[in-house]
Amino acid sequence: MRALYAAGWLLISTVSMTTANRHRQVIGRNHLNHHHRSQRELAYSPPSYPSPWMDPKAAEWQNAYAKAKAFVSKLTLLEKVNLTTGVGWASEQCVGNTGSVPRLGLRGLCLHDSPLGIRGSDYNSAFPSGQTTAATFDRILMYRRGYAMGKEAKGKGINVLLGPVAGPLGRMPAAGRNWEGFSPDPVLTGVGMAETIKGIQDAGVVACAKHLIGNEQEHFRQAGEDYGFNITEALSSNIDDKTMHELYLWPFVDAVRAGVGSVMCAYTQVNNSYSCQNSYLLNYLLKNELGFQGFVMSDWQAQHAGVSAAVAGLDMSMPGDTTFNTGVSFWGANLTLAVLNGTVPRYRIDDMAMRIMAAFFKVHPDIHLDPVNFSFWTRQTYGPLHWRAGDGYQQVNFHVDVREDHHLLIREIAAKGTVLLKNTGGLPLKKPKFIAVIGDDAGPNPNGPNSCDDRGCNNGTLAMGWGSGTANFPYLITPDAALQARALRDGTRYESVLTNYALEKTETLVSQANATAIVFVNANSGEGYTRVDGNMGDRKNLTLWGNGDDLIKNVSSWCSNTIVVIHSTGPVLLTDWYNSPNITAILWAGLPGQESGNSLVDVLYGDVNPAGRTPFTWGATRESYGVDVMYKPNNDDGAPQQDFDEGVFIDYRYFDREDTPVIYEFGHGLSYTTFNYSNLKIEKHNAEPYKPTTGKTTPAPTFGQDDAYGYTGSEKYLFPPSPFRRITDYIYPYLNSTDPHEASLDPHYGQTAEQFLPPGALRADEQPLLRASGQHQPGGNPGLWDVLYTITADITNMGSVTGDEVPQLYVSLGGPQDPKVVLRGFDRLREIGPGETRQFMARLTRRDLSNWDPVLQDWVVGGHKKTVFVGKSSRKLELSAELP
Ligand SMILES: *[C@@H]1O[C@H](CO)[C@@H](O)[C@H](O)[C@H]1NC(C)=O
Ligand SMILES: *[C@@H]1O[C@H](CO)[C@@H](O)[C@H](O)[C@H]1NC(C)=O
Ligand SMILES: *[C@@H]1O[C@H](CO)[C@@H](O)[C@H](O)[C@H]1NC(C)=O
Ligand SMILES: *[C@@H]1O[C@H](CO)[C@@H](O)[C@H](O)[C@H]1NC(C)=O
Ligand SMILES: *[C@@H]1O[C@H](CO)[C@@H](O)[C@H](O)[C@H]1NC(C)=O
Ligand SMILES: *[C@@H]1O[C@H](CO)[C@@H](O)[C@H](O)[C@H]1NC(C)=O
Ligand SMILES: *[C@@H]1O[C@H](CO)[C@@H](O)[C@H](O)[C@H]1NC(C)=O
Ligand SMILES: *[C@@H]1O[C@H](CO)[C@@H](O)[C@H](O)[C@H]1NC(C)=O
Ligand SMILES: *[C@@H]1O[C@H](CO)[C@@H](O)[C@H](O)[C@H]1NC(C)=O
Ligand SMILES: *[C@@H]1O[C@H](CO)[C@@H](O)[C@H](O)[C@H]1NC(C)=O
Repeated sequence: MRALYAAGWLLISTVSMTTANRHRQVIGRNHLNHHHRSQRELAYSPPSYPSPWMDPKAAEWQNAYAKAKAFVSKLTLLEKVNLTTGVGWASEQCVGNTGSVPRLGLRGLCLHDSPLGIRGSDYNSAFPSGQTTAATFDRILMYRRGYAMGKEAKGKGINVLLGPVAGPLGRMPAAGRNWEGFSPDPVLTGVGMAETIKGIQDAGVVACAKHLIGNEQEHFRQAGEDYGFNITEALSSNIDDKTMHELYLWPFVDAVRAGVGSVMCAYTQVNNSYSCQNSYLLNYLLKNELGFQGFVMSDWQAQHAGVSAAVAGLDMSMPGDTTFNTGVSFWGANLTLAVLNGTVPRYRIDDMAMRIMAAFFKVHPDIHLDPVNFSFWTRQTYGPLHWRAGDGYQQVNFHVDVREDHHLLIREIAAKGTVLLKNTGGLPLKKPKFIAVIGDDAGPNPNGPNSCDDRGCNNGTLAMGWGSGTANFPYLITPDAALQARALRDGTRYESVLTNYALEKTETLVSQANATAIVFVNANSGEGYTRVDGNMGDRKNLTLWGNGDDLIKNVSSWCSNTIVVIHSTGPVLLTDWYNSPNITAILWAGLPGQESGNSLVDVLYGDVNPAGRTPFTWGATRESYGVDVMYKPNNDDGAPQQDFDEGVFIDYRYFDREDTPVIYEFGHGLSYTTFNYSNLKIEKHNAEPYKPTTGKTTPAPTFGQDDAYGYTGSEKYLFPPSPFRRITDYIYPYLNSTDPHEASLDPHYGQTAEQFLPPGALRADEQPLLRASGQHQPGGNPGLWDVLYTITADITNMGSVTGDEVPQLYVSLGGPQDPKVVLRGFDRLREIGPGETRQFMARLTRRDLSNWDPVLQDWVVGGHKKTVFVGKSSRKLELSAELP
């Protein structure tokens, strides 16, 4: 989502408006001629219609379905359309707002960012990023963070919180928004998704799994955003079916199984069909195979078609206008017309309304909602309610403090997500005589922590990336402030140089006797609409920002006890200096949120014994990752083509396949104690054989009042007479004229379904269930979750201090196309005392041991010998055994 719309020339091609899945012949891919290829060779997305309707018997959805049915059955067509269409950018207080149903007392729903807090508000908390939370490898903390964020959102009047993130997954380490999500490992991300979703929704707010799918970089995600090149169509992520299932879709499966109420489709295309109108993606994969019962909303301006998107599976148009503030919509009046003229089947609009209301009722007992008590568009107390129109001046911000005691949780997550990458004796600190803190990243932004819109700059300590995935800091504890406070308590001498460029003063300081030098460095990234120091969302390099490497090299050449702290949005290159004997410890503190300094002090002094694990690989060079961001479009005559040719081999799977040495491997992280692993045991269970799902759906149901379907000329769809007052550029469901051509404003109005929709798009009869889908079971075939093995191992604390340990279960599936190992389980065992032994236990499901068979269209446990490993990281696999 974007805050600003800088370039006013977004091209909406008529082709993409009228075809959901473009039918192009696939003539095979030309790998030799990557940079100049013709349209004929483009990857292709097969059509899949009709769009699946809700299943009244879906597990965990029946109550919600019943309530939605009762409500939707009372609605008129205009009211249903109101639920599906946003009222336009900045037309109401939230970043996205649906129309309302005043007749029945439902106010417009408030959809709002972000995955780590409440964007652009006040008296809210700023939580650690998803990526930092992933580094805790702690399910309970993931859940509690989701719950706390959900409660804060609820306290502001938000109904749908726009997170968590599994796309980007993290294919490329330089990609701008990886930090919003969890990890390039799909299992870790899947757990992060599920726990966060349960937390948010238990607090009474609908969660949103985003962005579906393959939106792995910021460059070229939208035509119309300035990347230094003009592109006519957004980038296409070309992903084969096996890679889709085994990697990118995996965490979305967990999201659906966790009951997520909404999914956001992405800006980018998949196989040259826009994600928000890609019927294979939305109808086949998400709603049919995964049995998703909630609603799909478009990313902000990611909708490129009206009718075609509706039949391809889109349920909600956000923010409602075609391009921000145009006052016109692909839906709104157009959707009213499309239902009336029969190009969108009646059951489809009913299903959209059902999905939206069922997701809503899944987390709300009834339709009575407190008003939204903040406005995203201003921090002033008074202002226009309808910001775009400058209309309705009143109190819009009530400054409700929703933070509760979440600072404690934030501090705990950030401390437990801090990864001790190296320690040759520098840590923990014990009343050191003299601390010298060095670097811009230790101090404050001189203009204040919220001075740059959506955190779009890099000044002072880095505690959040930039873009829509942000929140305002209620305060930001800098490392400098927290370390100084601790130093004073201990009687430690304390000085800091809060810049990367005062080398002489730094040398004078850190070369003094008894110095413990702590150098703070960072690397930032964010969303594509903001450019920071030439980084257009995606990082332009993997090195530290602003002289960071030289600073470390210099300080460590002057001080034999140099500790490095890195705040970053992903891996950086440590190659030149990590091995220096003078660097006695290296910590990755991720993006810790508001309690940054406090959580770091907890780890540095051993109040929290570190057990964070790196959720990605630290390679020695940028090239060693195998894939990289595409910075230059590679297709002269259309969408840049990003072929995911590496398949499932990203991050550690790629390094392992190439047998490349790494600096720090996925899953690595040290403690102030040591643990011994022993006694691996495997218990085999007699699971039922896998049963492919068979059978059919019901025919498509319809709900609600009997409108004059088939007749567009009725006056009952016109704007209400005065005193109804139209707000400028506001999107309504009403028609301007009884002449549909006039009402639609579309010069091509009048095209029939046969003329522009793929065959089957309007079918309403019973449809066959897919074998990999679940019978009334969202998330896929329940047989995939049968437990086939239980694995246990003993973990013994061999040191003298208590600590947490994160044993990791890896599996080798054994096939020639399989990664060496894949993560399949983990646990954070808390507070194991000195000498104490704790049992680690993990279950292996059928899904964990399967590969996706694209021909069969199902998961299959292959015949190759499978090995399990329990270890401390992806490359420290202390225990192993073959699966019986
Ligand atoms: C994309 O194309 C590949 C190769 O033909 C195919 O395996 C995959 O299912 C397609 N995915 C989508 C979403 O169209
Ligand atoms: C649609 O929503 C708008 C904005 O909330 C509201 O003014 C209008 O009355 C609603 N229309 C209907 C038919 O409920
Ligand atoms: C992109 O298009 C805009 C508007 O047509 C034009 O002003 C600009 O020079 C073009 N930029 C490039 C790099 O071609
Ligand atoms: C209907 O959609 C078309 C694009 O398909 C757009 O040009 C037109 O302005 C829309 N009409 C309204 C009333 O929003
Ligand atoms: C039906 O309405 C939609 C939305 O305005 C329009 O695109 C389409 O051309 C119309 N078709 C017919 C047959 O009227
Ligand atoms: C803030 O950081 C930007 C780079 O993001 C830099 O260009 C600018 O000089 C910095 N401003 C201050 C006041 O430090
Ligand atoms: C401090 O430095 C002096 C001079 O190098 C040394 O004699 C002394 O042992 C050091 N003290 C500590 C606590 O490191
Ligand atoms: C990498 O990018 C950062 C941020 O723009 C910049 O500060 C740094 O100097 C760059 N590194 C190199 C080696 O150019
Ligand atoms: C380590 O620090 C000492 C100063 O304490 C310096 O003399 C030495 O050259 C440094 N060694 C390295 C490898 O930088
Ligand atoms: C509808 O008519 C009103 C009043 O004539 C005009 O201001 C508005 O722009 C029209 N809107 C659309 C979507 O046609």
